[in-house]
Amino acid sequence: MTPQIRKQALRQSIIAAREKMPSLERARASQAITHTLCGLASYREARAVLAYLNFGAEMETELFVRQALIDGKQVYLPKVNRATKQLDIYRIGDLQHDVAPGAWEIREPVAERCELLAAPGAIDFVLLPGVAFTRDGTRLGYGGGFYDKLLPGLSHRPVRVAGAFSMQVVDRLPQEPFDQKVDWLVTEHEVVACGQF
Ligand SMILES: Nc1ncnc2c1ncn2[C@@H]1O[C@H](COP(=O)(O)OP(=O)(O)O)[C@@H](O)[C@H]1O
Ligand SMILES: [Mg+2]
Repeated sequence: MTPQIRKQALRQSIIAAREKMPSLERARASQAITHTLCGLASYREARAVLAYLNFGAEMETELFVRQALIDGKQVYLPKVNRATKQLDIYRIGDLQHDVAPGAWEIREPVAERCELLAAPGAIDFVLLPGVAFTRDGTRLGYGGGFYDKLLPGLSHRPVRVAGAFSMQVVDRLPQEPFDQKVDWLVTEHEVVACGQF
């Protein structure tokens, strides 16, 4: 079996399991993860933060985005560029006016209102989405490879942090040469410094 086929099978089973999490449990876990994320030294020291807005049964990231705005961070969100099949990064000022549903109904920055990230070195801290992670930082995304394309192109390497529910942490994942790893994994139960493994 190729890594792509194994990845696809894992995506389906973990996404299905995550959808079964009761919404109250998801909300509580999301709050706990957000609290931990905002206590990380790398977050506190960051001037510019790239986050994302959740869809489906993902960790609720709106709390994190709100807190980053309150904390005076420069807050950036990705927008899928269908032509290039890559992510464009925009700075947002608020969640009311600067964000609207885009590709796959995921809330994205409104291009007309937001400033495009011109300097790819400006981001200090990235909160990454994902389907599954290992404690050594391997990441399984949704199959678009968007972050595998984005991260190597940033001139200044930001700290890469995944926030995920503990049921998304697995012992092993298929890994291909282009897969980008995360530095920190934060769940409702633990904080893992992935680089130590
Ligand atoms: N740096 C890159 N440049 C171009 N294509 C890439 C790059 N990284 C990944 N890809 C493409 O993205 C596809 C999906 O990658 P994959 O790791 O399976 O998805 P995900 O990271 O979303 O789980 C790969 O088959 C590969 O062709
Ligand atoms: Mg990948």
